[in-house]
Amino acid sequence: MKLQGKIAFLTGAGSGLGRATARLFAEEGATVIAADIDLAGAQTTIKGMPPAAMAEAAKLDVTDSQAVDHLIGDVIARHGRLDILVNYAGIAWGSKDEEQRFNRMTQAIFSEITATGKATTQFDLFAQMTDEEFDRVISVHILGTFYCMRAVIPAMLRQGQGVIINCASSGAFFSRPGTPHHYCAAKAGIIGLTRAAATELSARGLRVNAISPGTIATAMTDVIPRPIAEMMLQQVPMRRLGSPDDVAKTALFLASDDAAYYAGQSLNPNGGLHY
Ligand SMILES: NC(=O)c1ccc[n+]([C@@H]2O[C@H](COP(=O)([O-])OP(=O)(O)OC[C@H]3O[C@@H](n4cnc5c(N)ncnc54)[C@H](O)[C@@H]3O)[C@@H](O)[C@H]2O)c1
Repeated sequence: MKLQGKIAFLTGAGSGLGRATARLFAEEGATVIAADIDLAGAQTTIKGMPPAAMAEAAKLDVTDSQAVDHLIGDVIARHGRLDILVNYAGIAWGSKDEEQRFNRMTQAIFSEITATGKATTQFDLFAQMTDEEFDRVISVHILGTFYCMRAVIPAMLRQGQGVIINCASSGAFFSRPGTPHHYCAAKAGIIGLTRAAATELSARGLRVNAISPGTIATAMTDVIPRPIAEMMLQQVPMRRLGSPDDVAKTALFLASDDAAYYAGQSLNPNGGLHY
């Protein structure tokens, strides 16, 4: 067991990568606090754990800094420590309307390709993006990651050890036509936040790293229109989407002592998609 006795707090733990990682961490002996804006999702995550697992589900919107401080403060008070934070909470689009605009453009482009062999229509997402859409995506990823890091760091410094894992994306380094701009900006920001925090905190026993997955089969990617999903798959040398377990195993490595000499890094489970 690689995480025996550790207290691990995960956001976005009600689905996809967060769910797989929460379950793997519990199997490896951690006490898991599975937080998500979707409480029912977090509860389902816990129900899928082995009967002996120690886990709690909690409702949390990571963009609410007071709620983050309150929940993490309560966890630290009750458990006496917090060893691992994993920031997975994320969204791809700033609104349902934005997602629908993307779907309509995709359909138009692929209808043209089917009919004429080439497309004259281009993605036109940037100019149509509203302030609120940009702000929401940046808030969930950048503010959410920052609020949770800030809330755990004092306790980790008192302990003289702690692990923080932030979730970036291949979108931080590489984008395709139709990749959401705010999402890429947010994920690149998470890489910067991770490196800067590692620079400040590594000498005091904290290890801060990131994971930048390629395309992984979760609820977030299920909704990608089929032609785009096919195109994305063709770009992956391994010719398969990643599984949530591929990413969970990367998180387990970074959370464990096996990664003792990693700081400010991004590990990239992506099937060989190099940018
Ligand atoms: N699936 C992929 O291909 C992929 C690739 C690269 C990076 N990522 C990143 O991985 C992370 C997890 O994504 P996933 O694929 O598991 O998606 P997912 O949609 O299955 O899970 C995301 C979870 O985040 C939660 N969430 C959303 N907003 C929240 C908020 N404000 N506060 C708390 N929780 C919130 C959702 O309820 C959901 O349970 C995200 O940060 C995503 O950007 C995913």
